[in-house]
Amino acid sequence: MATVLETHGLTKSFGGVLAVDDVSVAIAPGEIVGIVGANGAGKTTFVNLVTGYLKPDRGRIIYLGRDITAHPPREVTGLGVARSFQIPQIYASLTVLENVLIALAAREGQSLRAWAPLSTRVREAEGLILLEPFGLTEHAARPVSELPQGGLKLLDIALASALMPRLLLLDEPTSGVSSAEKFGVMDTLVSILQARGVTVIFVEHDMDVVTNYAGRVLAFSEGKILADGAPGVVLADPAVRKAVLGWA
Ligand SMILES: Nc1ncnc2c1ncn2[C@@H]1O[C@H](COP(=O)(O)OP(=O)(O)OP(=O)(O)O)[C@@H](O)[C@H]1O
Ligand SMILES: [Mg+2]
Repeated sequence: MATVLETHGLTKSFGGVLAVDDVSVAIAPGEIVGIVGANGAGKTTFVNLVTGYLKPDRGRIIYLGRDITAHPPREVTGLGVARSFQIPQIYASLTVLENVLIALAAREGQSLRAWAPLSTRVREAEGLILLEPFGLTEHAARPVSELPQGGLKLLDIALASALMPRLLLLDEPTSGVSSAEKFGVMDTLVSILQARGVTVIFVEHDMDVVTNYAGRVLAFSEGKILADGAPGVVLADPAVRKAVLGWA
């Protein structure tokens, strides 16, 4: 089977804490994978390892057949692996469009201190096109600080998608988003990413969101994958319910 991502024995500890413990998993192209787990289960550490923000103690990471273990984030991103953060990495005082222009400039490898202007007509046009499917075009001129939390999360994902990734890792795409907005945010991002054939791994605490949008669920517990399979099966597993939700 051709895979987009494989980890083999991926391990990372912090002092005495085994945050990710011997994790081996294979993800096929186009899969939408939800990662669930209690606080401290190792979900963010796993994302940080795959995207190069942390170096594993042991194990290998294979992306599209290529060993990317311990590659720096810039290189991993350059190969088509993008991510969002648990807390969006956005310039709050700038406008929506300015944030996109920065992301596009970064994609082109232009340093922010370079002499070339950030805003060019071509780049602005591209930025507006990029915002369109996320429903953010009408907010392009607004400062990010005025966006509702759902808009902020969508902008974060729009910025990550500016990199035209093959694999996108989202760390809690709906955290802080009101339950009224949550499903709209997920509908938007999943339909866009699926249409583009992007493989998605998203960390999520809301089990309704996982059930509705993940085709496959990885349940993390104490750094290990406790269960891996269809949402209906994994989330009904008593061991998962105890470890993830704290009740059987
Ligand atoms: N940079 C770090 N330094 C020390 N310990 C860390 C660091 N990052 C994570 N840990 C520890 O590793 C374990 C896993 O943390 P991680 O952030 O991966 O959990 P998580 O599943 O993302 O939790 P949450 O749902 O709260 O976001 C925790 O015990 C955490 O305290
Ligand atoms: Mg986390």
